[in-house]
Amino acid sequence: MEFTARDRLRLLAALGAMPLSACAGGGGGSSPAPPASPPAPPVSPPPPPPSSTATLKQVFATEFEIGAAVQTAQVTGGTVDQSLAETHFSSFTSEFEMKANIISPAQGTYNFDPADGLLAFARANGAKVRGHALLWYRSTPGYFTVGTASDVRDKLETYIAEVAGRYAGDIYAWDVVNEVVSDSGTDTYRQDDWLQAVGKDYIDWAFTAARAADPAAKLFINDYSTEFAGKRGRLITVIRDLLDRGIPLDGVGHQFHLSRGIDPNQVLAAIDDIDALGAGLEQHVTELDISVYSDPPECFESGVNCQTGYGTASSDVPDRVYKEQAQLYRDLFEGFKARDSVTSVSLWGIRDSQSWLNNFPVSRSNYPLLFDPDGDPKSAFLAITDPDYVI
Ligand code: XIL
Repeated sequence: MEFTARDRLRLLAALGAMPLSACAGGGGGSSPAPPASPPAPPVSPPPPPPSSTATLKQVFATEFEIGAAVQTAQVTGGTVDQSLAETHFSSFTSEFEMKANIISPAQGTYNFDPADGLLAFARANGAKVRGHALLWYRSTPGYFTVGTASDVRDKLETYIAEVAGRYAGDIYAWDVVNEVVSDSGTDTYRQDDWLQAVGKDYIDWAFTAARAADPAAKLFINDYSTEFAGKRGRLITVIRDLLDRGIPLDGVGHQFHLSRGIDPNQVLAAIDDIDALGAGLEQHVTELDISVYSDPPECFESGVNCQTGYGTASSDVPDRVYKEQAQLYRDLFEGFKARDSVTSVSLWGIRDSQSWLNNFPVSRSNYPLLFDPDGDPKSAFLAITDPDYVI
């Protein structure tokens, strides 16, 4: 690891806290007294790390909302995360507490407590909330997709009326459908329980119900791997089909769960290709993180061919990897700033230690975010907040 200004500060602080006897360097016992030497000149403290007082929400205030995915308890217990959340972010997304398996695990019963808690936290801090997600195959309780097409439609519309209706006016954007596009080149739509039950019409029903329940919220289709041309092409097919038929769609969410080593221009092409549709769609980066591993797409999609983990300490990751990660974050944020359709950029978490990537797609320690496990800003943070920071 490179010895940074921050490390020097920490070392000085630690030395300052040590008893003098410990500083004498002896292991105790009978070692001879060191020869008398002139008193050392006072150590002048090193300069503080660059822009360590910058806050993300100030830096990007005129560009886009800057957000993070959180769990309500994580930001309401007087925690390190609460302080980072309050200091840095203007937008919050529930990491999982606004998904259907949490809000309505059984038909007709609703648990809004965690979601209400996040809304209250955001309101108290003058921040906004992105709603995530009204429909996601991985968090859909089984009862939704059984019965006739009309039963399924009814359950979906009732759920969306309840949830989007409850938060009408409080959510600036909803991921109405999440991950409905197929990973396979042979299908356009994901072969999931929704498609099996009723065909692709469920997507129309979801958007129409969301618009009716909350006319002020911007309605998004959200997906991953949009940085790959094949997946993006299928997403664009779905988007065109919705727009052609007047289904209310306002924006596209790019998850951007990225692997280190990806070309930033390849990622930014995803934004440009949506702009090129000429439909005036807003674009949100919804779940940004940059894995310290350089994996092929099949690792993310099915957990195969993933790079072996570095280790459980953040210092196990080679410094060149953190530098590469920082440079990629910088290039991407410059690209987001340059594109007017990008109105919100959210990280999928705050500190590395809580990232979902520690358990997905395989179990291995990962360090994909802007703050390290202790909550200290990483090079990636400095790279996007201070243009003079040398990576
Ligand atoms: C993940 C959360 O991070 C996990 O805590 C949860 O167990 C499963 O979902 N794409 C999405 C997010 O749209 O909802 C997922 O979040 C990550 C992948």
